[in-house]
Amino acid sequence: MANLRTVVFMGSARNRPARFGGPARLGTRVLRYVVRTLEARTETTHEVTVLDPLELRLPILEAPQFYYPPGEAPPELEAASALVGAADAFVLVSPEYNHSIPPALSNLLDHFGGSKYACKPSGLVTYSNGQWGGVRAGMQLRALTSELGCLSVSRTCAIPNAGEAFDEEGVPQDPARWEKMLGGMLNQLEWMAMAMKNHRDAVGMPK
Ligand SMILES: Cc1cc2nc3c(=O)[nH]c(=O)nc-3n(C[C@H](O)[C@H](O)[C@H](O)COP(=O)(O)O)c2cc1C
Repeated sequence: MANLRTVVFMGSARNRPARFGGPARLGTRVLRYVVRTLEARTETTHEVTVLDPLELRLPILEAPQFYYPPGEAPPELEAASALVGAADAFVLVSPEYNHSIPPALSNLLDHFGGSKYACKPSGLVTYSNGQWGGVRAGMQLRALTSELGCLSVSRTCAIPNAGEAFDEEGVPQDPARWEKMLGGMLNQLEWMAMAMKNHRDAVGMPK
Protein backbone atom coordinates (compact mmCIF):
# COMPACT_ATOMS: atom_id res chain seq x y z
CA MET A 1 0.00 0.00 0.00
CA ALA A 2 1.23 3.50 -0.82
CA ASN A 3 2.43 5.65 2.07
CA LEU A 4 0.91 8.85 0.76
CA ARG A 5 -2.15 9.84 -1.21
CA THR A 6 -0.85 12.55 -3.48
CA VAL A 7 -3.00 14.81 -5.62
CA VAL A 8 -1.33 16.56 -8.55
CA PHE A 9 -3.06 19.74 -9.70
CA MET A 10 -2.42 20.64 -13.33
CA GLY A 11 -2.23 24.37 -13.92
CA SER A 12 -2.75 24.73 -17.66
CA ALA A 13 -5.98 24.26 -19.58
CA ARG A 14 -4.45 25.49 -22.81
CA ASN A 15 -5.84 23.48 -25.67
CA ARG A 16 -5.37 25.26 -28.98
CA PRO A 17 -7.41 23.26 -31.50
CA ALA A 18 -5.37 21.03 -33.77
CA ARG A 19 -7.18 22.45 -36.81
CA PHE A 20 -5.38 25.71 -36.17
CA GLY A 21 -2.12 23.82 -36.12
CA GLY A 22 -1.56 24.79 -32.53
CA PRO A 23 0.93 23.01 -30.34
CA ALA A 24 -0.41 20.80 -27.59
CA ARG A 25 -0.18 22.05 -24.06
CA LEU A 26 3.46 22.17 -23.05
CA GLY A 27 2.58 21.22 -19.51
CA THR A 28 1.50 17.72 -20.50
CA ARG A 29 5.20 16.88 -20.92
CA VAL A 30 6.01 18.13 -17.45
CA LEU A 31 2.94 16.50 -15.95
CA ARG A 32 3.90 13.11 -17.39
CA TYR A 33 7.39 13.40 -16.01
CA VAL A 34 6.16 14.41 -12.57
CA VAL A 35 3.60 11.60 -12.35
CA ARG A 36 6.14 8.99 -13.48
CA THR A 37 8.66 10.28 -10.98
CA LEU A 38 6.14 10.16 -8.13
CA GLU A 39 5.07 6.64 -9.06
CA ALA A 40 8.69 5.48 -9.14
CA ARG A 41 9.55 6.75 -5.64
CA THR A 42 10.51 3.89 -3.38
CA GLU A 43 11.33 5.03 0.17
CA THR A 44 8.02 6.81 0.42
CA THR A 45 5.45 5.68 -2.11
CA HIS A 46 2.55 7.59 -3.64
CA GLU A 47 -0.96 6.80 -4.76
CA VAL A 48 -1.15 9.52 -7.40
CA THR A 49 -4.29 11.23 -8.70
CA VAL A 50 -4.18 14.05 -11.23
CA LEU A 51 -6.79 16.80 -11.18
CA ASP A 52 -6.56 18.27 -14.67
CA PRO A 53 -8.76 21.24 -15.65
CA LEU A 54 -8.84 19.94 -19.24
CA GLU A 55 -10.45 16.72 -18.06
CA LEU A 56 -12.55 17.98 -15.16
CA ARG A 57 -13.98 20.90 -17.12
CA LEU A 58 -15.24 22.70 -14.06
CA PRO A 59 -16.94 26.01 -14.91
CA ILE A 60 -15.44 29.37 -14.04
CA LEU A 61 -16.27 29.35 -10.37
CA GLU A 62 -19.99 29.64 -9.74
CA ALA A 63 -20.22 27.69 -6.50
CA PRO A 64 -17.40 25.85 -4.76
CA GLN A 65 -18.13 22.37 -3.46
CA PHE A 66 -18.72 23.63 0.07
CA TYR A 67 -21.54 25.98 -1.01
CA TYR A 68 -23.77 23.01 -1.79
CA PRO A 69 -25.77 21.08 0.79
CA PRO A 70 -23.80 17.92 1.73
CA GLY A 71 -23.59 15.49 -1.18
CA GLU A 72 -25.48 17.73 -3.63
CA ALA A 73 -22.65 19.26 -5.64
CA PRO A 74 -22.26 17.98 -9.22
CA PRO A 75 -20.83 14.44 -9.05
CA GLU A 76 -17.48 15.31 -10.64
CA LEU A 77 -17.05 18.13 -8.14
CA GLU A 78 -18.00 15.87 -5.20
CA ALA A 79 -15.55 13.22 -6.39
CA ALA A 80 -12.71 15.70 -6.85
CA SER A 81 -13.43 17.27 -3.48
CA ALA A 82 -13.31 13.86 -1.79
CA LEU A 83 -9.91 13.23 -3.39
CA VAL A 84 -8.57 16.55 -2.15
CA GLY A 85 -9.94 15.88 1.31
CA ALA A 86 -8.38 12.42 1.45
CA ALA A 87 -4.99 13.58 0.14
CA ASP A 88 -1.85 13.70 2.28
CA ALA A 89 0.17 15.88 -0.09
CA PHE A 90 -0.25 18.09 -3.14
CA VAL A 91 1.95 18.81 -6.12
CA LEU A 92 1.13 21.82 -8.28
CA VAL A 93 2.37 21.67 -11.87
CA SER A 94 2.00 25.14 -13.31
CA PRO A 95 3.08 27.44 -16.11
CA GLU A 96 3.37 31.19 -15.66
CA TYR A 97 0.86 33.42 -17.39
CA ASN A 98 1.68 37.12 -17.37
CA HIS A 99 4.12 36.57 -14.50
CA SER A 100 1.28 35.19 -12.49
CA ILE A 101 -0.83 32.14 -11.62
CA PRO A 102 -2.77 30.75 -14.60
CA PRO A 103 -6.52 31.30 -14.15
CA ALA A 104 -7.26 27.60 -14.75
CA LEU A 105 -5.22 26.71 -11.68
CA SER A 106 -6.69 29.24 -9.27
CA ASN A 107 -10.16 28.37 -10.58
CA LEU A 108 -9.52 24.69 -9.92
CA LEU A 109 -8.07 25.25 -6.44
CA ASP A 110 -10.92 27.61 -5.50
CA HIS A 111 -13.52 24.87 -5.96
CA PHE A 112 -12.46 23.16 -2.72
CA GLY A 113 -12.64 24.45 0.83
CA GLY A 114 -9.64 25.26 2.97
CA SER A 115 -10.40 22.39 5.33
CA LYS A 116 -9.62 19.95 2.52
CA TYR A 117 -6.11 21.36 2.16
CA ALA A 118 -5.42 22.07 5.81
CA CYS A 119 -2.33 20.73 7.59
CA LYS A 120 -0.91 19.10 4.47
CA PRO A 121 2.13 20.21 2.48
CA SER A 122 2.38 21.15 -1.19
CA GLY A 123 5.26 21.13 -3.65
CA LEU A 124 5.66 23.44 -6.63
CA VAL A 125 6.73 22.42 -10.12
CA THR A 126 6.69 25.41 -12.45
CA TYR A 127 7.71 25.62 -16.07
CA SER A 128 7.78 27.96 -19.02
CA ASN A 129 8.78 28.10 -22.61
CA GLY A 130 11.21 30.85 -21.70
CA GLN A 131 14.22 31.14 -19.47
CA TRP A 132 12.71 31.73 -16.02
CA GLY A 133 10.88 28.46 -15.52
CA GLY A 134 7.69 30.04 -14.18
CA VAL A 135 9.29 31.12 -10.90
CA ARG A 136 7.18 34.28 -10.63
CA ALA A 137 3.99 32.22 -10.67
CA GLY A 138 5.69 29.91 -8.17
CA MET A 139 6.23 32.74 -5.69
CA GLN A 140 2.59 33.77 -6.01
CA LEU A 141 1.54 30.17 -5.49
CA ARG A 142 3.38 30.29 -2.17
CA ALA A 143 0.95 32.97 -1.00
CA LEU A 144 -2.08 31.14 -2.36
CA THR A 145 -1.14 27.77 -0.89
CA SER A 146 -0.44 29.30 2.51
CA GLU A 147 -3.95 30.80 2.55
CA LEU A 148 -5.38 27.41 1.58
CA GLY A 149 -3.47 25.78 4.44
CA CYS A 150 -1.11 23.69 2.35
CA LEU A 151 2.13 25.67 2.54
CA SER A 152 4.68 24.77 -0.09
CA VAL A 153 7.99 23.22 0.91
CA SER A 154 11.06 25.38 0.43
CA ARG A 155 12.64 23.54 -2.47
CA THR A 156 10.90 23.95 -5.80
CA CYS A 157 11.36 22.51 -9.26
CA ALA A 158 11.43 25.24 -11.93
CA ILE A 159 11.84 24.15 -15.52
CA PRO A 160 12.83 26.69 -18.17
CA ASN A 161 12.51 25.95 -21.90
CA ALA A 162 10.26 23.00 -21.08
CA GLY A 163 9.63 22.26 -24.77
CA GLU A 164 13.31 21.44 -25.18
CA ALA A 165 13.84 19.91 -21.75
CA PHE A 166 11.17 17.19 -22.28
CA ASP A 167 9.78 15.39 -25.29
CA GLU A 168 6.04 14.88 -25.74
CA GLU A 169 6.07 11.76 -23.58
CA GLY A 170 7.76 13.67 -20.79
CA VAL A 171 11.14 12.05 -21.28
CA PRO A 172 13.87 14.50 -20.20
CA GLN A 173 16.90 15.44 -22.29
CA ASP A 174 19.00 15.68 -19.13
CA PRO A 175 17.53 13.23 -16.59
CA ALA A 176 20.13 13.92 -13.87
CA ARG A 177 19.27 17.63 -13.77
CA TRP A 178 15.57 17.07 -13.08
CA GLU A 179 16.07 14.05 -10.85
CA LYS A 180 18.11 16.30 -8.60
CA MET A 181 15.73 19.24 -8.69
CA LEU A 182 12.40 17.40 -8.53
CA GLY A 183 13.84 14.71 -6.27
CA GLY A 184 15.06 17.33 -3.80
CA MET A 185 11.63 18.92 -3.62
CA LEU A 186 9.94 15.53 -3.21
CA ASN A 187 12.31 14.56 -0.39
CA GLN A 188 11.03 17.56 1.56
CA LEU A 189 7.41 17.03 0.54
CA GLU A 190 7.43 13.41 1.66
CA TRP A 191 9.06 14.25 4.99
CA MET A 192 6.54 16.98 5.70
CA ALA A 193 3.59 14.90 4.50
CA MET A 194 4.51 11.93 6.69
CA ALA A 195 5.13 14.18 9.70
CA MET A 196 1.80 15.99 9.24
CA LYS A 197 -0.08 12.77 8.61
CA ASN A 198 1.35 11.18 11.75
CA HIS A 199 0.44 14.24 13.79
CA ARG A 200 -3.08 14.47 12.34
CA ASP A 201 -3.55 10.80 13.21
CA ALA A 202 -2.16 11.32 16.71
CA VAL A 203 -3.91 14.50 17.84
CA GLY A 204 -6.40 15.45 15.12
CA MET A 205 -6.76 18.87 13.53
CA PRO A 206 -6.13 22.23 15.26
CA LYS A 207 -9.14 23.70 17.05
C1 LIG B 1 -1.71 34.05 -21.50
C2 LIG B 1 -0.25 33.65 -21.53
C3 LIG B 1 0.66 34.35 -20.77
C4 LIG B 1 2.00 33.97 -20.74
N1 LIG B 1 2.86 34.62 -19.91
C5 LIG B 1 4.11 34.14 -19.74
C6 LIG B 1 4.96 34.69 -18.74
O1 LIG B 1 4.62 35.58 -18.01
N2 LIG B 1 6.21 34.16 -18.60
C7 LIG B 1 6.65 33.12 -19.38
O2 LIG B 1 7.77 32.66 -19.21
N3 LIG B 1 5.86 32.59 -20.36
C8 LIG B 1 4.61 33.07 -20.54
N4 LIG B 1 3.78 32.53 -21.49
C9 LIG B 1 4.34 31.51 -22.38
C10 LIG B 1 4.25 30.13 -21.75
O3 LIG B 1 5.43 29.82 -21.06
C11 LIG B 1 4.03 29.09 -22.86
O4 LIG B 1 2.89 29.46 -23.62
C12 LIG B 1 3.83 27.70 -22.30
O5 LIG B 1 3.60 26.86 -23.41
C13 LIG B 1 2.63 27.65 -21.35
O6 LIG B 1 2.41 26.35 -20.89
P1 LIG B 1 1.18 25.47 -21.42
O7 LIG B 1 1.39 25.26 -22.90
O8 LIG B 1 1.29 24.19 -20.65
O9 LIG B 1 -0.05 26.24 -21.11
C14 LIG B 1 2.44 32.89 -21.54
C15 LIG B 1 1.50 32.20 -22.31
C16 LIG B 1 0.18 32.55 -22.30
C17 LIG B 1 -0.81 31.75 -23.09
